[in-house]
Parts: sequence; C-alpha cells; structure tokens
Amino acid sequence: MSTILLNPGPVTLSRRVREAMLRPDLCHREPEFSDLQSGIRRKLLAVYGLDPGEWAAVLLTGSGTSAVEAMLGSLVPADGELVVVENGAYGERMSQIAVAHRIACTPVRHGWEDAVDPSRLRAALARVSLPAHRIALVHHETTSGRLNDLAVAGPGGRTSLLLDAVSSFGAEQIDFTGLAACASTANKCLHGVPGVSFVLLRRSLLEGSDPRRGLYLDLAAHCRAQDAGDTLFTPAVQACYALDEALTELDGAGGWTVRRARYRALMEHVRGRLIELAVEPLLPEGDCSCVLSAFRLPHGLSYERLHDGLKRNGFVIYAGQGRLAAGIFRIAVMGEITDPDMERLLGALSAVLG
Ligand SMILES: Cc1ncc(COP(=O)(O)O)c(C=O)c1O
Repeated sequence: MSTILLNPGPVTLSRRVREAMLRPDLCHREPEFSDLQSGIRRKLLAVYGLDPGEWAAVLLTGSGTSAVEAMLGSLVPADGELVVVENGAYGERMSQIAVAHRIACTPVRHGWEDAVDPSRLRAALARVSLPAHRIALVHHETTSGRLNDLAVAGPGGRTSLLLDAVSSFGAEQIDFTGLAACASTANKCLHGVPGVSFVLLRRSLLEGSDPRRGLYLDLAAHCRAQDAGDTLFTPAVQACYALDEALTELDGAGGWTVRRARYRALMEHVRGRLIELAVEPLLPEGDCSCVLSAFRLPHGLSYERLHDGLKRNGFVIYAGQGRLAAGIFRIAVMGEITDPDMERLLGALSAVLG
C-alpha cells in the first residue's frame, strides 16, 4: 500500500495522471507540444469559465513561488506601489519578492492566526502616493489554513488585486470579476505534479507598460510566445502531460465545485475525529479553506512523534512553519484520497493519539 500525502502538495497522484507522464518523448519545438500547451492554457481558463478574449493563462516552469514572483514582477507598473496583505508566511513572502525586485511596497501586517482587517488595508491604500497601485493577497494562507476573503480588496480590486491562489485554485470559489490576476501551480488542488505553474491574467494588463524586472519570469514575453504557439525556454514536458490529464480528470469529475465538496467531506471527518481525540483546531471551521486545517499539538506530544507514528501507518502530515512550528501540525486533503484511505487515516489518528 503506497503512502498517502496529507501535506499541502505535492499530492498523491491518480493512476491516470501518473501514467500520463509516460506519453511519448516530445521536443518542445514540435507542433505536438504546441497543441499540448494550448490545450492546457484553454483548460485552465475553463476551470472557472473565463473568457479567452479577456483572460490569458500563462504557463511557467517552476514551483508556485515562480508564478507568484512572475505575477508581482510583471504586473506592478514601473510607477506603481504594491500594498501587500500579510497574515502568514506566504503573504510575507510576497513582500520579500517585492523587495528583491525593488518594487515600492507597503506591507499590511497581521498576526499569523488573524483574519484580515479591511480598515487597515483601506488606510494603507489611502496613503499610496505613487500614480498606480496593486494589492497582493494570499487567498488560502496555507500557514494557518485560513481562507482570506477577496472582498477585503474592495470594489476597486478589479484591476488591482493580484492573488496568490497557489493552494486554492481548482477547489475554492474565486470571484474573477474582482481580480487582475492570480498565480497558482499544478501540484496542489489540480492534482498534477510539481514543475509547472501558471498565472491567469487580464490581457488588458499587458497592453500598458511592461516593467521588465526580469527575463525568465517576464509574463508579457511568455504570453506573446505562448499565444504564437511557441515557448520561450525548455518546459517541463512530462509535468505538462500530467497537468493536461489532471485538468481533464477535474473536468470529468464535475469541476471545482465537486472537488470542493469532496475536500470538505474529507476535512469534516479529520476535524471530527481529532476533536473527539481532544485535539483543538487552530481556527474555527468557518474560517478555514476546504483544503487544509491546522491543529494544536496536544500537550506533551512532539510533532516528530505524531508524524512518525502516522508515517508508520502510511500517512505523511505536515509541520507548522516559522513561529507556529512548535505548536501546530497541519493536514491537507488534496490528491487522490479514497474513502478506504480516509477510514484507515481515522483509525491511525485514534491509534497514535488515543
Ligand atoms: C499559498 C501559497 N503560496 C505560495 C506557495 C509556494 O509554493 P511553492 O512551494 O510551490 O513554490 C505555497 C506553498 O505551499 C502556498 O501554499
């Protein structure tokens, strides 16, 4: 029996996605790759029913952070300021990216267990003095499991909100009417493998200034090449095969709403059993994504003992990050997790924690 991954990506693969990586060897300058790439771009837009005339999906070779970095580096105008909402490690990472690219940046800091305070964001926006601005927000802050509300960006968010949807795309509701762009990756809620990430953006954003803060992650250049059926650099071909199959699988299973319902059902089982075992969730259920919940480590139990006990039973869980590392553990329910897997997990949790 293979190990089930309960970390927030990479995920346990379905057989069909794993087998897709064995499709024929392929040169990325051949028409077959061009067709594969165009198909993936189309399918990514179709996940949320986006109009290809208005939106583009741009593929990148790299992990989720590369897509976030490409989005921030390419879509904050040269005369613009980035207001970054921070309530976890990934919000803070966006500020680090802004600093690395010398983008004028104002962090709106919150505690890692806190909800975003819209009044503090409004106050930061009121202080922006440069001609243009963008807001950066993490949708599902995987640090705590909190699902941030996109409405905090306010009605003006439409052309200014840059969303890190790395751990929500494909399983949570995303209101694209309020978005300029979002960044995500193949190997989380879409159930592909690491190696391909992507940015979905309004095409109109590429028409104005191109700030050119880098070469490899220049979204405008990637978009131009991909629109022409080409690719700038050598892509992760086998990871593209897997993503293509994973997107077909998602669509065939009923799309993101069905995936969200599945994750919710799985997460309810996990939260329910842990609460029975006197393990306290970090956040109330209503504040959490369907994807991942964090739990406080019971008094006297180290993360290592819990992790190793579950791993012996075939499950890999995830530690807390940074300042939460000593106090919590996390469980994600992405990937190919069957009902019998969940039964075994509930048994393993009782055996290790009971
Ligand atoms: C919300 C969020 N943003 C960014 C990242 C970074 O992704 P990667 O590790 O694929 O670069 C993660 C990874 O878990 C994440 O959860």
